[in-house]
Amino acid sequence: MNTEPNEVHNKPKLVTVFGGSGFVGRAVVAALTKRGYRVRVAVRRPEVSYYMLPLGTVGQIQQIQANIRHRWSIDRALIGADYAINLVGIMNESGKQRFNTVQVLGAKNIADACKQANVPLTHMSALAADSASHSAYSRTKAEGEKAVRAILPDTIIMRPSAIFGADDTFFNRFANMARFSPFMPLIGGGNTMFQPVFIDDVAEAIALSVDGKLKSGETYELAGPESRSLKEWMIRTLEVIDRKRAFISVPWWLAKLASSIAGILPKPALTRDQVDLLQKDYVLSPAAIQSGLTLEAMGIAPQAPDAIMTSYLWRYRVAGQYSTLYRLELKDE
Ligand SMILES: NC(=O)c1ccc[n+]([C@@H]2O[C@H](COP(=O)([O-])OP(=O)(O)OC[C@H]3O[C@@H](n4cnc5c(N)ncnc54)[C@H](OP(=O)(O)O)[C@@H]3O)[C@@H](O)[C@H]2O)c1
Repeated sequence: MNTEPNEVHNKPKLVTVFGGSGFVGRAVVAALTKRGYRVRVAVRRPEVSYYMLPLGTVGQIQQIQANIRHRWSIDRALIGADYAINLVGIMNESGKQRFNTVQVLGAKNIADACKQANVPLTHMSALAADSASHSAYSRTKAEGEKAVRAILPDTIIMRPSAIFGADDTFFNRFANMARFSPFMPLIGGGNTMFQPVFIDDVAEAIALSVDGKLKSGETYELAGPESRSLKEWMIRTLEVIDRKRAFISVPWWLAKLASSIAGILPKPALTRDQVDLLQKDYVLSPAAIQSGLTLEAMGIAPQAPDAIMTSYLWRYRVAGQYSTLYRLELKDE
């Protein structure tokens, strides 16, 4: 076990992970349990994440109901905790889950509660964080960072680019689109640059922050080794899933109009806010590289999508995992 024993109870440290049942949360919980930490997963619906319990040994993971919009539930989730991680974020607003209530007020609630309980915090933001953006997601990520810094200046903030892995909403979205649509829409020409980062690298970075191996009070940018345009990542996805699709360029004005109309639907495929998000590139800033606030500086060699995306995108191929065999058979005939 790598962790320092808790001085008073002689038990491994307890880490409360807000949003621990999500895409990033599951990887973070796995990275923490592997290191020997006890983990408390704090989410609104703990009952839907019981399947996570085998990620640790018996009793190593516990679940607690918490809604970061309600301060009292955060206080309860932090009782006895040695460290806290906030992974809660939303891509779409629905019901009481608004960008402002979750990503600003929720983030502030957690920082306030951590300060009161004297618990250090790692806060998950995004490379998209930008107070001047048209996107409410970006603006509230920036405001959340600012609020957290003002309350707990030592907080470690993580800003990832798009994150990829088996359950991602990046490559899976393109691959799924290719299954149902004869063409791939390129919003704004598909020129937005992305530097996707592997989920396990993100989880490792967050675990290092809990280990005390990162600089407190800093903002780290997490990105993979390759930067390509949205169109290039779509082409790569199509190659992996062995499908050919035509590309159609959708001008910004049309994408904004269509997404504003689609936004009325309960589960829109694309929202106006997501179109606004595409107007900025998601690559490492020169400042982060110069200041050594990157995965490489943490000693993590970020993994490229090419080697990994095939392992989970095969399910979008016409004959699934048998696609290659199928082609070989056809050649033999
Ligand atoms: N995925 C990416 O590519 C990406 C890229 C950049 C940044 N990020 C950031 O990384 C973080 C994690 O993203 P993700 O992809 O893992 O999101 P996700 O899969 O949607 O997971 C969100 C988690 O937050 C919990 N949650 C939602 N609202 C809550 C609330 N009010 N109170 C308590 N828990 C709540 C959810 O569980 P319940 O629904 O049960 O509460 C779930 O565990 C977010 O801050 C996101 O903005 C993600």
